[in-house]
Amino acid sequence: MNIDDCNDAATDAPEPGVAERMESAVRGYYGETLHSSADLKTSACCTATPMPEHLQAILAQLHPEVKDRFYGCGSPLPPALDGATVLDLGCGSGRDVYLLSSLAGASGRVIGVDMTEQQLEVAERHRAFHAKSFGHARSNVEFHLGDLADLAALGITDASVDVVVSNCVMNLVPDKPRAFAEIFRVLKPGGELYFSDVFSDRRLPHELLADPVLLGECLAGALYLEDFRRLLAGLGVVDARMCARSPIALTDAAIERKMGFANFESVTWRAFKLPLEDRCEDYGQVATYLGTLDEYPHAFDLDDHHHFETGKPLRVCGNTADMLSASRYAAHFRIDGDKRRHFGLFDCAPPAVGKVAAPGAKASCC
Ligand SMILES: C[S@@+](CC[C@H](N)C(=O)[O-])C[C@H]1O[C@@H](n2cnc3c(N)ncnc32)[C@H](O)[C@@H]1O
Repeated sequence: MNIDDCNDAATDAPEPGVAERMESAVRGYYGETLHSSADLKTSACCTATPMPEHLQAILAQLHPEVKDRFYGCGSPLPPALDGATVLDLGCGSGRDVYLLSSLAGASGRVIGVDMTEQQLEVAERHRAFHAKSFGHARSNVEFHLGDLADLAALGITDASVDVVVSNCVMNLVPDKPRAFAEIFRVLKPGGELYFSDVFSDRRLPHELLADPVLLGECLAGALYLEDFRRLLAGLGVVDARMCARSPIALTDAAIERKMGFANFESVTWRAFKLPLEDRCEDYGQVATYLGTLDEYPHAFDLDDHHHFETGKPLRVCGNTADMLSASRYAAHFRIDGDKRRHFGLFDCAPPAVGKVAAPGAKASCC
């Protein structure tokens, strides 16, 4: 196989006709083929990871039809959302939108975007039900039918959104560089992208995109992890943090035969719209979590290697200090030190694959 036959999403816009074919296949899969999560052929589009208890309590309030048509691969539901404007890309039938609706509260706003009419019909049908469940005088939720790679066409303006989330969607999008560029256009400075998706450990052959099941099951369009980093770097987003990862089992024999040469994972990422450095630099800064995020009184995990115990100072690099002091997390951290004195590269490393930093581990960074 020639390298040119593989998806190199860091640089590729789709060839003529490919985008239209992919979009039509995806609409067919999510609008007609699938009727509930039980129809999926692999675990790719359906997370087995349990949700934190406080989210499970909200989940219990959701309408069964919305829950039945959940096709996500993670729980991209960050804290500190009260009053925030949150955008869910590829919201489907709205499970995460409604969880976010409760988390953002009556003064918040949640915008769901999806291109499949049947999915949005389900989501729309239960708007009043959820407003009532959450005690909102009027719904704080709105849905837009359209392409998430063209948010401008939906009237979503520059720097208007606090948090963008997405759950198992970006793999389905033909023009990934354009989609991520749109995300960082609409985010406010200091805003956060927090999303879960399927990733592969290698570039995948283009021809797999023509198979509607491999595409629809969120496999054929999965980004190679390193190309994802390159794609973001090309947009000036140089320090995305991995928050969670779990392997995906290809449980269908026919799919395994076609895709078994690659390994797939569901990964949750956090990336801020901030002018960060491409390496972690040491300015002698220290961050202390104040324990004030609702539902996280004892500790907060910024990513898979920053576990902040309440009240315990942790040495951090300049990028981490900026993420914590120039975002909506600022009210929840004390940052000691500034960037006037530089001590060289920050001495740190991510944990080995599959391991998460132990609470109280030494200063760590990416
Ligand atoms: C795997 S489902 C996930 C749905 C939802 N996030 C969930 O967790 O249940 C993927 C969804 O992304 C939508 N989608 C895919 N590409 C899209 C695009 N370019 N613009 C808008 N929606 C898109 C599909 O219509 C589908 O509803």
